[in-house]
Amino acid sequence: MFTDPSEHRTDHAVCAFTLSDNQISPDVSETLDISHDMTDQDIRDLRPALPVPLLMPDVVQQKTADFVRHFTGHVMYAVKCNPDHVFLDAIYQAGVRHFDVASIGEIRRISARFPDAVQYFMHPIKAPEAIREAYINHGVRAYVLDYDGELEKIRHETNDAPDLELIVRLAIPKKTEQRDVATDFSSKFGAQFDQAVNLLKACRPHCAILGVSFHVGTQCQDPDRYAQAVAYAARVIEESGVVVETLDVGGGFPADLESATPLPPVQAFTQSIADAVSANGLNHMHLLCEVGRGLVAGGGALIVRVEGRKEDLLYLNDGTYGGLFEAGGAIGLPYPAHLIRREERAFQGQIRAFRFAGPTCDSVDMMQGPFMLPEDVQVGDWIRLDQLGAYGEVSRTDFNGFGAVQKIILRPQNAAPTEADKTVIHA
Ligand SMILES: Cc1ncc(COP(=O)(O)O)c(C=O)c1O
Repeated sequence: MFTDPSEHRTDHAVCAFTLSDNQISPDVSETLDISHDMTDQDIRDLRPALPVPLLMPDVVQQKTADFVRHFTGHVMYAVKCNPDHVFLDAIYQAGVRHFDVASIGEIRRISARFPDAVQYFMHPIKAPEAIREAYINHGVRAYVLDYDGELEKIRHETNDAPDLELIVRLAIPKKTEQRDVATDFSSKFGAQFDQAVNLLKACRPHCAILGVSFHVGTQCQDPDRYAQAVAYAARVIEESGVVVETLDVGGGFPADLESATPLPPVQAFTQSIADAVSANGLNHMHLLCEVGRGLVAGGGALIVRVEGRKEDLLYLNDGTYGGLFEAGGAIGLPYPAHLIRREERAFQGQIRAFRFAGPTCDSVDMMQGPFMLPEDVQVGDWIRLDQLGAYGEVSRTDFNGFGAVQKIILRPQNAAPTEADKTVIHA
């Protein structure tokens, strides 16, 4: 028998006004700062009818500072993962000045907010206009590529600029059938061994700095994958016979989804990389990484409401077209879940596995989980889902008219909201 933990309480706090029901209405989609401890009772008082994304920038700042301390090169933040200014500021405050950008929209955003940032254009297939604007207007010098057509494009759009940093993206061969990454990142992009060798040789005369990069796959839970990939990159470099200055070990660092197998600490990943760099004689190289999820996942959560229940299937007011994109389909991340009962109820039952369905009419809008919750879930209860700071809000759509949310920023007690936090954000 399991007794449900009585009250979920975060370490966070924030702002000066109480939310009334009409502030949580379908027309409202703005950011609010809350200046008191966020408890289950707060949610009961708010009675939100819309999904409520929670942002905890101090968690992101602390995670980032921790990562920067352990990683032995420069940490780039992969902006696509969550471009919310609240998180960007937290990452910048933790000391990050390098940004992995993949579109001209991301480049403009970073240029406007952090004029001293060093941007790396890390999409292997870029629009010609984007390359030109990035180079001329935003001072971007580093470009990734994985085939010779892109080399021609970059040379043409930058007028054969002499100060380019060209980074060849490798496809990393799969070692195992084990599902230790959520998505394989070498099926859509990346040069195979011989292609990469030839591309390095082709790039060398056209750049000031030459590099290689890879992405082991997102939500990677095995530190050894990085070591294997570094060894593979070393073999490609050696075979090319040209001087290569930059080694970019990509992203993939996981969020803690509280699964039965505990996640290795961040040091296990950074140490595995540092050891592999040394073991393969690459200490002279400029080491970079492109972290997304590993920095921001823990800084986001989502409060959803149960609108219907059929046995183990809970119909929610948010789903895969909203903030839960990665809970659906082939990715199927089972986020940690916590029940907030509509009113306090005594509970002596079991914890059981649930599936979720989103609010849209599309049957694809379903999530297998398993999401572990007390068995007494009722319609009208709320569920808090954690580790949603990555790829959640940024993927939200207005499909079926379900796009509106009320974001809340939670800050540690006594922290004043910043000017930037008062920006209105539209879903
Ligand atoms: C090129 C590239 N770098 C870095 C990232 C960030 O990956 P992660 O969130 O797994 O750290 C991504 C994610 O899509 C990517 O495409």
